[in-house]
Amino acid sequence: MKRALISDIHANLEALSAVLADIRNQEIREIYCLGDIVGYGPNPCECLDQVIRHSQVTILGNHDQAALFDPDGFNPVALQAVYWTREQLEGRGDSSRIHKRWDYLGELPRTHNDGNSLYVHGSAREPTNEYVFPEDVYNQRKMDALFSRIDRYCFQGHTHIPGVFTTDREFHSPEEISYQYRLGTDCIMVNVGSVGQPRDNDPRACYVIQEDDVLTFRRVEYDVNVTADKIYAINDLDNMLGDRLKSGR
Ligand SMILES: [Fe+2]
Repeated sequence: MKRALISDIHANLEALSAVLADIRNQEIREIYCLGDIVGYGPNPCECLDQVIRHSQVTILGNHDQAALFDPDGFNPVALQAVYWTREQLEGRGDSSRIHKRWDYLGELPRTHNDGNSLYVHGSAREPTNEYVFPEDVYNQRKMDALFSRIDRYCFQGHTHIPGVFTTDREFHSPEEISYQYRLGTDCIMVNVGSVGQPRDNDPRACYVIQEDDVLTFRRVEYDVNVTADKIYAINDLDNMLGDRLKSGR
């Protein structure tokens, strides 16, 4: 079994294209997408079309949900991006294309369960909205509550910070584990990182390959400036959304 786990594309077509090419080069046919296809970035329609085409399992992210329904708890920059994204989804392409995109978003599940693996956007406790940050390993109550909801493995995104959380309350960044982790009998949570807006100070796109019991964190270079320039040219997308891509923050 070989599968790519991608998340948090955030309408970044250049990053998504580079990741899809990397996935193809390794002859991986199965892709799971853990949400936030849209929001922040300049190409929501194009990214959604690619996910519809290539992903076998897709989970609803909070930004996908915000484009569909009334956004809740978003800061002004994110909120403006949500409204701009909605306009694009409502107005780009012929009506069958538009309907296909909305129907797809509207039917996305919040969780997916594959035997011993759970797939969510945020956390096992609150699948769409809860953040699990590396520093949460110091919050024993939170860790215990999350792990009590996981059979064996939980794959998630949302924070844009890749790594592995273990039940002995440790967080391992990809660099610390040489980009590889072997799944065993212990419970773990895996953040697969972000394709289109990494926030771990590495601007390269991030995703995970699962091959049987081995996870590999992949970093893929793409031309960040192309995406940033598109963002700068769109009034409703704040310039900081382009700036942050360059620093991976
Ligand atoms: Fe996100």
